[in-house]
Amino acid sequence: MSDKKTSNQMWGGRFASGPAAIMEAINASISFDRKLYAQDIKGSIAHSEMLAQTGIISAADQEKIAHGLNTILKEIEAGTFEFSTRLEDIHMNIEARLADLIGPAAGRLHTARSRNDQVAVDLRLWVKDECFRVAEALKGLIKALLERAEEHAATVMPGFTHMQAAQPVTFGHHCMAYVEMFSRDLSRVRDAIERMDESPLGAAALAGTSFPIDRHQTAKALGFREPMRNSLDSVSDRDFALEFLALAAICATHLSRLAEEIIIWSTPQFGFVRLSDSFSTGSSIMPQKKNPDAAELVRGKTGRVTGHLVGLLTVMKGMPLTYGKDMQEDKESAFDAAETLDLMLAAMTGMVSDMTINAAAMKKAAGSGHATATDLADWLVRTLGLPFREAHHVTGRAVALAEDKKVGLEKLSLEDLQSINPGITADIFSVLAVQNSVKSRTSFGGTAPSEVRKQIRAWKKRLAKA
Ligand code: ARG
Repeated sequence: MSDKKTSNQMWGGRFASGPAAIMEAINASISFDRKLYAQDIKGSIAHSEMLAQTGIISAADQEKIAHGLNTILKEIEAGTFEFSTRLEDIHMNIEARLADLIGPAAGRLHTARSRNDQVAVDLRLWVKDECFRVAEALKGLIKALLERAEEHAATVMPGFTHMQAAQPVTFGHHCMAYVEMFSRDLSRVRDAIERMDESPLGAAALAGTSFPIDRHQTAKALGFREPMRNSLDSVSDRDFALEFLALAAICATHLSRLAEEIIIWSTPQFGFVRLSDSFSTGSSIMPQKKNPDAAELVRGKTGRVTGHLVGLLTVMKGMPLTYGKDMQEDKESAFDAAETLDLMLAAMTGMVSDMTINAAAMKKAAGSGHATATDLADWLVRTLGLPFREAHHVTGRAVALAEDKKVGLEKLSLEDLQSINPGITADIFSVLAVQNSVKSRTSFGGTAPSEVRKQIRAWKKRLAKA
């Protein structure tokens, strides 16, 4: 058996026609980079206008080019454009069609340009647009959380550390913690937009061009602040995509933590919230069940978004300057992360707005587990002047006594408490009730409803300006 025959048999199936078919399949990106069609056409029109204005091509050719490109835009949007894998990518598909439509003038469009700066500008435009979409979606989610926080600024729930009830907090305060996180995500999006707001177009293949192009003009026409300053960097940088993936992964992680809490809160054992039917499903076999599928999927999809970040970081880490075909792998991760994050944000906003809060269950849980033990210790320090360590010790004995008597700390009698420390007075009961405990935590950023409401007001103002 000859080697050739063996390998041909091994190719088999899809690749039966041999190396050409394999090469086409591994090389082509049209199946996914067609998503960039609008950016590609926009970039080409801006480039052609600049070429005409600088006298590099004639105004007549430019008109033909722009007209042809607009026709192609309509064809793609109407679904009548025929994409070809043989033509590899979106850039060559559009250019080939332009030649069909307008003839030789089409060949002038690629003057002083390369697919290297072309693809860099297309993807930047796309990622920048997506960042604006994410910013809007984040604002929607923050708004939904602010509304729930306002409603429940005084709704007491247990605050946890190690998933053990630690001290009572309010549900509004808990919502506001996420407002802080998602607001930082929003500021990360804004920062990323700031940095990616530079145009790589005009870097040509890698070294710039000898044609008298005007990169400031194309940068402006495409809505960038300015052109990138180094042609090598322009075609080889993908950190704008990495930054998007990084902010997406962090945001997804925040969403996942909230999703996880919603999953826990909606168990019958907790019963803190009830998800609306729109965001949960029944079981096909166990009629009593209501599963938090949307929350679980938000939690699950986080792995996917983070995977895309790690994937592209890994692609880029070994890349010498400037362009290498490896970089074609940047798109699917960016596209899928974007689509996934958009969906996660929409689902979370829906869940947050629609879920029913069971304030009674939260309050009951907040009162169990001697959650006001720290308040008792603080009272001993404040009122009796005990050193905190000693107060901690006294409180420990009070908790042990409550455990013995199988009651909550606040149900111990004054005599019981005085048997541990005779200085204790009836005033102690004012801090042992969860509502009072919460009310007393008025330190800046603390859980007191008055403080939570202050933060809500401040965020509402900030958001209106954002
Ligand atoms: N489809 C390619 C990509 O996405 C376009 C750039 C091709 N450049 C090249 N020198 N082969 O990266």
